[in-house]
Amino acid sequence: MPQAPRTEWSAALLSSTVAEPKALMETPDVLIFDTTLRDGEQAPGNSLSPEEKLRLARQLDALGVDIIEAGFPAASEGDYRSVREIAAEVRRPVIAALARCHDRDIDLAGEAIGPAERGRVHVFVSTSDLHIREKLRTTREEVLAMVRSAVRRARSYTDDVEFSAEDASRSDPDFLCRVAELAIAEGARTVNLPDTVGYALPTEYGAMFRDVRARVPGADRVVLSAHCHDDLGLAVANSLAAIAAGAGQVECTVNGIGERAGNAALEEIVMAGQVRGAALGFHCKVDSREIYRASQLLSYLTGVFPQPNKAIVGRNAFAHEAGIHQHGMLQNGLTYEIIRPEMVGIPRSTLVLGKHSGRHALERRYRELGYDLSDIQLAEVYGRFTALADRKREILDEDLLALLHESFHDAPEEHQLAHLRVVCGSVSPTAEVRMTGPWTGERTARGTGDGPIAAAFTAIGEIVGRQIEVLSLSLRSLTPGRDSVGQVFLQVKIEGKSLSGHGASTDIVEASARALVHALNKARHADKLESSSLNAIYLWGV
Ligand code: KIV
Ligand code: ZN
Repeated sequence: MPQAPRTEWSAALLSSTVAEPKALMETPDVLIFDTTLRDGEQAPGNSLSPEEKLRLARQLDALGVDIIEAGFPAASEGDYRSVREIAAEVRRPVIAALARCHDRDIDLAGEAIGPAERGRVHVFVSTSDLHIREKLRTTREEVLAMVRSAVRRARSYTDDVEFSAEDASRSDPDFLCRVAELAIAEGARTVNLPDTVGYALPTEYGAMFRDVRARVPGADRVVLSAHCHDDLGLAVANSLAAIAAGAGQVECTVNGIGERAGNAALEEIVMAGQVRGAALGFHCKVDSREIYRASQLLSYLTGVFPQPNKAIVGRNAFAHEAGIHQHGMLQNGLTYEIIRPEMVGIPRSTLVLGKHSGRHALERRYRELGYDLSDIQLAEVYGRFTALADRKREILDEDLLALLHESFHDAPEEHQLAHLRVVCGSVSPTAEVRMTGPWTGERTARGTGDGPIAAAFTAIGEIVGRQIEVLSLSLRSLTPGRDSVGQVFLQVKIEGKSLSGHGASTDIVEASARALVHALNKARHADKLESSSLNAIYLWGV
């Protein structure tokens, strides 16, 4: 990678606004292809409902990514539906849908992106001999035939077709070049060369791009794309090496979520481009000030938070603990900070709200945090805010964000928790729960369990009469201090269906009960959607 003269990077570093020096603005644009909703979501523990995916897609739009890979429509009915919904609603970015080189997959992907302003079908097949032999149990000739027919079929839905050579980095270079040439000849506009198992080193990965660019006829007319997994912790380094070797697109995910060790982290690539753009020789259009909001929303929806020291978005990414560092920071922030928190949208807290804060103060703080609330949203959040302020002296930004996320409903709140009382300690735990719901009316039940949460869950299960299996429950304290709000993330199976639920309260048993009620509401909503889609004319399974 070219080394920047010292003056260039010092200029970038010392610039006091988010805008970059002119030299950076003139570097070529690299397209940001976000696959959080596809490669990210398919990893265990990250599953999202169609409503949650749509919320995230709106935030990815605000972030300014160029392409959103919204899902893999052949994988499930839910994926098909959410790609279609995102395509219909999120108009600025290109909406991509993934398909294997199978006619049915391609047809479902083509249909799903139908409503998009700009839709892309992304077809893929493995090109390494290992995958061809062991996974596909076929031959190189057959793979070539699959590529020809798949790209052709995808082109019948859209001009914007991407072809991916899965396991490209472990493929025979001559065969990889033959495949890429064929995909381009059939009309693919983007050719993606993934490091599917995170095996490549940056020098090797960059060399593969140079090789394909030099040897494949037509490669100069298409966008070459990088897609890296993080098994050796090299996903971002490999993506940057690909850019230096001419890649015009990088595929990445928010918080780096994805299969196994994850995908290249979007925020790290974007900030590398912003802070070291002149040295790296690229620029992208993402609005970095939306990064923190995207990261928080994703974490909240999946219940999976990045490790505290995760670059850019980890809780400690901007914390300065050592006295010597703090001293330097007080003199001049540039001593130990190469990115100012505001550059990624982390608000500098100026105001602590409490019991006596009014609606205007709340509205203003949300505006400072980047949320313009409608009157209805404000009224709802204000109700929750006052209830919290009765229990907690100081309401911090983390509390406000949790209140806001809680007030977006991804399913109607049909079940409601009206009352909860637990007895626990040195006696055997029992719980009494009262719930209301339009079809059950008001019902009370008592339950026992190994602990107060288990007892409350037994009572709730009794009231709703559904089979509930708890897969995982995690608890996070939102802010320091004894009166902190506890946020519970729950993964459950309700009659065999995996669902997540969240709940927050200064009482962790109540937060857990709320999380279960949230999951039950989602289960009911999903049942309704399923029964209505059975009646609709739907090409699923045709
Ligand atoms: O890692 C990979 O190879 C993929 C392809 C489907 C693009 O995710
Ligand atoms: Zn992948």
